[in-house]
This record gives sequence, C-alpha cells and structure tokens, in this order.
Amino acid sequence: MATVKRISDKAKAVSRRTFIKSVIAGSAGVASSNYLFRASTLGSQAVTAGGFERLITINVNGRQRRVDVMKQETLAWTLRYKLGLTGTKLGCDRAECGACTVLIDDVPHYSCSGLTHTVRARKVVTIEGLASADGTLHPVQQGVIDEQGFQCAFCMSGFIMAAVGFLKTNPDPTRSELAHGISGNLCRCQDYDKILTAMMRGAENMRRVHRA
Ligand code: FES
Ligand code: FES
Repeated sequence: MATVKRISDKAKAVSRRTFIKSVIAGSAGVASSNYLFRASTLGSQAVTAGGFERLITINVNGRQRRVDVMKQETLAWTLRYKLGLTGTKLGCDRAECGACTVLIDDVPHYSCSGLTHTVRARKVVTIEGLASADGTLHPVQQGVIDEQGFQCAFCMSGFIMAAVGFLKTNPDPTRSELAHGISGNLCRCQDYDKILTAMMRGAENMRRVHRA
C-alpha cells in the first residue's frame, strides 16, 4: 500500500513539475494575439494635440520596441496589451500586490504604477527576458522548478522578478533577509513558506552558476 502511495505521489509530482515548467518556460511564447491592441485601433497619431509624443521606443528584454502609448498609460498595460508580454500579471493594479513586478535598470518596480513614457531611457526586464537565448532558465526560475514553490502561480512572475532584483544587491541572503527583500509581493494562496524556500534555492542556484 505504501509503495502504491509513493508511486502515486511521484507521478503527481512529475506531472506538477512538468506543468509548472511549461508555465515558466512558456511565458515568452504566450503572447496571445488576442491581447494585443493594434496601434491602428488606437489611432496612428504619433503626437497628440497637446504635443505629447505617443510613438516611442522602449528597451524591453534587450530589444528596442516601438510602441504607441497614451499619456496616462502604465508600463504594465503596455507590456501586456501592446507588446503581448503577458507573463507580467495585473493583480490589484494599484501598487499593493507586486504581481506586476518588473526590473527597471535592475531594480524591481511595480509596473502598474509607472507610466510607460517615463522608462524611455531605461532598461526594462520582464519574466520573459530572464531565460537565456538557448532556453536555459534563470537560476531563480530553476529554483521554482526544484522546489515546486507555488500553488496557482498567479503571483509567481512577480515574486521571481522581485527576488532576482533583490539578489543583485544581496546574493547570499539569510532566509529572513530574503523574506524582507521580497515582502512587497503578496500571494493570494498564502504559500509563503514554500515560495521562500524556492527563492532561497534560486539564490543558491545563482551562486553556483556564478562560481562555475
Ligand atoms: S498589480 Fe501592480 S502591485 Fe498589484
Ligand atoms: S500561488 Fe496563488 S497567488 Fe501565489
């Protein structure tokens, strides 16, 4: 009976691992065209009557992207609905949950609370920009795979981006330092202990990669 349980658990774990891996690795590919608002639907004016330049270039994940933005448009909106980078999630849309976290010049920011036109001279990195060109996951993403750290995973990309940003300033944190470092992110499933374990594994993976 115990053997059956072990086999069953293993199958469940593999299935869950496969699912989470596909979600993480596939973020770059889920740029659903259904989400994309074509520039033509917004009007093709490059400059509004008030002199605001709408057609701007922003650096996202190492690429220069031309995009038509409104004056009051948030970065989260542009990333998701103009550029199809739906790995950045929108939870509260008012700077409370961290689901929309991206890196701007290597520092984590809530993308729901910054205007797109303010990041023109800066470098934006989203969850889709973390993996290597050959598909190798970022060490923190790998930490999530290793530890199976999330339940529904809606909050996952925000936590990963917050952790990646924090680890740039403190690559060898204690558990409580890392908890403090990513405390701007909330998980509706309240899976904090497992998430922290996954992020700690990610930190360990990063140190191993940098030592190699
Ligand atoms: S969606 Fe930006 S902080 Fe919640
Ligand atoms: S795992 Fe569900 S919101 Fe965090």
